[in-house]
Amino acid sequence: MEKYKVAIMGPLYPDARARLEEVCEIKLWDKSDPIPRDELVEWLADAEGFISRGDIKVDKDLLSQAPQLRVIAQSSVGYDNIDISACTEQAIPVGNTPVVLVEATADLTFGLVLSSARRIHEGWNYVQEGHWTSRRNIPLGVDLFGKTLGIVGMGNIGVAVARRAQASGMQVIYHNRSIRTDQEQLAATFVNFDQLLEESDFIVVLVPLSAESRHLFGKDQFKHMKSSAYFINASRGPVVDTEALYEALVNQDIAYAALDVVNPEPFSDHPLIHLPNVLITPHIGSATLETRTQMGELTADNLLAGLAKQTLPKCVND
Ligand code: DGY
Repeated sequence: MEKYKVAIMGPLYPDARARLEEVCEIKLWDKSDPIPRDELVEWLADAEGFISRGDIKVDKDLLSQAPQLRVIAQSSVGYDNIDISACTEQAIPVGNTPVVLVEATADLTFGLVLSSARRIHEGWNYVQEGHWTSRRNIPLGVDLFGKTLGIVGMGNIGVAVARRAQASGMQVIYHNRSIRTDQEQLAATFVNFDQLLEESDFIVVLVPLSAESRHLFGKDQFKHMKSSAYFINASRGPVVDTEALYEALVNQDIAYAALDVVNPEPFSDHPLIHLPNVLITPHIGSATLETRTQMGELTADNLLAGLAKQTLPKCVND
């Protein structure tokens, strides 16, 4: 049997790789930098399947140069880098990996809440730098117990973060496109966006990136928050106006920011990094061995289904 031609933007985990190699002829880009556009165009000229990556723009122009393409799969829940309507126009299904990454991403998100509230990384820096010579100057954090956590974007990950917060004795409020039908069971209260900004001690952002959510958090929104507020972003960097966040932290309009996503990424020389009231992790929400392995499997399932012209297990544009 002739093998399917596929282009894969790595990494590709061993189990998924073995399954794909059985039926696919693979071109694998396993460098951490994104593939140059012209090389990708060459790779896609005869590709029937494509595993893309968040740092690659999949637009009309690219699709027009991929005449054989019949499926795109991506190992992430977010797909803001892909023009979904252009894919739909060309009858190309796009698969993503929701559900399997919920708990790991919720752990990291709540880890940022906990770590920033209790200044865990500052405590470690303090010990490492040899300042722990008495008990006097130990940095004080703030309690989670009794505080209000406001979640913006109450999807599956939001619900999983809410569970963790409630276990720590926090009240949970949320803002979402619509009120959840399981709201009572969640023990979380829907509020309007401004109310959430005003009442939350901790604000957790989990909205997907779209035209409406780009720069959802800017100068006005930071001004609306409590000056003691902690701001946690685990969604996409462009949901926040980075310069406005920087100003808000410098001016102490808010107390602290903990970010797993920033704009741009990677992010290595922005002045935000040097502020004392910031904690940044390098977009590691789903980065555990178990979760990434499951994401790899689901991505392979999506790709193989599309190549066989079957329904994708997790399809964005069905
Ligand atoms: C996701 O799954 O969307 C994560 O943010 C990784 O990009």
